[in-house]
Amino acid sequence: MVTVITNLEKRKTNFLLKLNYTLLIFLIYFVTNNIAFSKERGQILAHAAGCFGCHTANKDLPYSGGYKINTKYGTFISPNITFDKKNGIGKWNLEEFTRALKHGISPKGVPYYPVFPYNWYKELKNNDINDIYNYLRSIPIQSIKQSNHKLKFPYNFRALLWMRSKIEYIFFSNNQFNTNNEIEKQGSYIVKSIGHCGACHSPRTFLSIVKNKNDLSGRPKSHKKINDEAPNISNNKTKGIGSWDENDIVFFLQTGFKPDGDYVEGHMTGIIEDGTSYLSENELKAVSKYLLSQHNK
Ligand code: HEC
Ligand code: HEC
Repeated sequence: MVTVITNLEKRKTNFLLKLNYTLLIFLIYFVTNNIAFSKERGQILAHAAGCFGCHTANKDLPYSGGYKINTKYGTFISPNITFDKKNGIGKWNLEEFTRALKHGISPKGVPYYPVFPYNWYKELKNNDINDIYNYLRSIPIQSIKQSNHKLKFPYNFRALLWMRSKIEYIFFSNNQFNTNNEIEKQGSYIVKSIGHCGACHSPRTFLSIVKNKNDLSGRPKSHKKINDEAPNISNNKTKGIGSWDENDIVFFLQTGFKPDGDYVEGHMTGIIEDGTSYLSENELKAVSKYLLSQHNK
């Protein structure tokens, strides 16, 4: 009788030990995969995608919003996207976050203004969105409440955005880039989705709808008081950057120095400092390859 009980006890302790080991392995797997790895990658992506740049007015309070974007429609003030439950996105789950990024729709079903470049983020890979979400969840929360946008009439009516998105859907499409070259594919993903380069470098028509998101043939000033023009970055030798070589582009996106010795100015300064300089050399080489493979425009 006694031996039966001790055997039973032994089995029980063995089982519990095994269970503990399994749980430990799960925990290590979970920590390394979901926190350590994705945190680093999430941070790089959140920079390269401009989330940091656009949602940070004060660098001591990252992602707490308050960054002002002047447009001909008025001034947009970026919201707090830290995980504060009251003034940030602390109550959002991954699905709600993904829908906002890919479709420009809030958890309450309200459309966002396209100044938040969801038209480009539409093609972000779910893994990348997951990493950005986990990264934002891991950083300190800021409980700052940001004020509303200061927009001119009638642009202050969000409901008009439904109409705009229908027009955009019917008339303008994203020009897909088909290539079997893996490096160009990687570059195209960074330029077209993460880096949303066309948000500034592609021309726009009425209602600020981008004619072709990846045209990259430059954007003229939209209003004499607004500094939103951006140069042609296609591979055209005279109008674009066709005379730059691959290393020139990599160096520029790391440091802001152009091949002629000039230093970058305007909005591109932040894009490089807070964004592209976080990407690896190989990723930037892929960007260069993609840009130089674009048709003359
Ligand atoms: C060019 C500036 C810009 C960039 C880049 C940008 N955002 Fe935003 N974002 C905005 C603005 C402006 C709004 C407010 C839009 C509105 O009110 O309709 C916004 C809204 C949001 C919202 C909704 C917040 C809320 O309270 O409803 C989330 C979430 C968000 N952005 C996350 C991100 C993430 C993540 C990235 C990077 C992948 C990013 N944003 C990149 C400007 C930007
Ligand atoms: C917020 C708007 C904005 C975004 C987004 C943006 N750019 Fe720019 N870019 C500019 C402006 C403005 C200039 C002009 C800067 C100057 O005059 O020095 C510029 C300049 C450049 C130049 C130098 C062109 C020349 O002839 O001097 C290159 C190359 C470039 N950008 C590449 C990119 C790439 C690649 C991306 C995406 C990863 C990108 N930009 C995203 C606004 C932007």
